[in-house]
Amino acid sequence: MDLELKGKIVLITGGSIGIGKGLVDAFAREGAIVVTCARDGKRLEDSLEELRRNIPGSRIYGKACDVAELQQLEDLVAFADKEAGGIDILVNNAGTGSAEKNMTAPDEKWYHYWDLHVMAAIRLARLCVPVMKKRDGESVIIHTTSICAKQPLEYEPIYNVTKAALSMYSKCLSYELIDDNIRVNTIAPGLMRTPDWNKTAAIVSKEKGITPDEYLQNIADEFAPIKRFGSPEELAQFYLFLCSPKASYCVGSTYFVDGGWLNVVI
Ligand SMILES: NC(=O)c1ccc[n+]([C@@H]2O[C@H](COP(=O)([O-])OP(=O)(O)OC[C@H]3O[C@@H](n4cnc5c(N)ncnc54)[C@H](OP(=O)(O)O)[C@@H]3O)[C@@H](O)[C@H]2O)c1
Repeated sequence: MDLELKGKIVLITGGSIGIGKGLVDAFAREGAIVVTCARDGKRLEDSLEELRRNIPGSRIYGKACDVAELQQLEDLVAFADKEAGGIDILVNNAGTGSAEKNMTAPDEKWYHYWDLHVMAAIRLARLCVPVMKKRDGESVIIHTTSICAKQPLEYEPIYNVTKAALSMYSKCLSYELIDDNIRVNTIAPGLMRTPDWNKTAAIVSKEKGITPDEYLQNIADEFAPIKRFGSPEELAQFYLFLCSPKASYCVGSTYFVDGGWLNVVI
């Protein structure tokens, strides 16, 4: 199927590793022009260089940026406009898990995750929509939340709360932008095998006296009816579809890509 993404300009936050890197790869393979960012500029550039080598003819631009900082977001959007020639699709991906107790987590930690998961998306919408409106055809905004936005994990309340807030923001934004031919949706992944999970597995498995693969398999067996982690590559296929004009009637929804983990019908 031709997803009609060739020549589309896609801004993806957090594209140096994990799900974000998988997204940069997948969009570039569809012929889209990709702009991405991460805080660690060196790791980002190394990663993008590898992708450029593997995808002949690809146009992939990277800029160091902390999405929790307004000025850096302004610079990122200006960079995308200047280098790539605009923005058609925004994928909010940068984010990370937390670990705390409600009774002891300090205000600073709550504000940090609020800026990272929620304010970044609010600010990027404000900055990107005027740029999108100058382009022909429909535009798309995707917010990456998590199954935890609906089905919380006990050990990471700040993650659960801020991702749930992001889901609601996404819905509200979808009403406001559909008249401008901008479709807004949310993707809520379940277990995705990323370097971060590999790092955790290496540490915890040693303590438990099992292999990293056994540790991850135990988690998959416990949570996901499909009994395995997803890969960034297979998750990316869903983003491609939702960003494609082929998904033209998909507006204001949250799509779970979780191997069956969600325990409710919505
Ligand atoms: N992996 C999973 O199982 C899973 C499941 C559900 C949802 N998710 C969601 O999917 C998204 C990606 O997760 P992941 O597992 O791929 O994460 P990851 O492997 O930790 O990668 C995160 C990416 O975002 C960048 N990043 C982090 N903080 C940033 C900031 N403040 N500004 C700019 N870039 C930043 C990182 O680079 P720098 O560190 O250099 O900034 C990196 O490129 C997150 O929103 C996460 O909550 C993941």
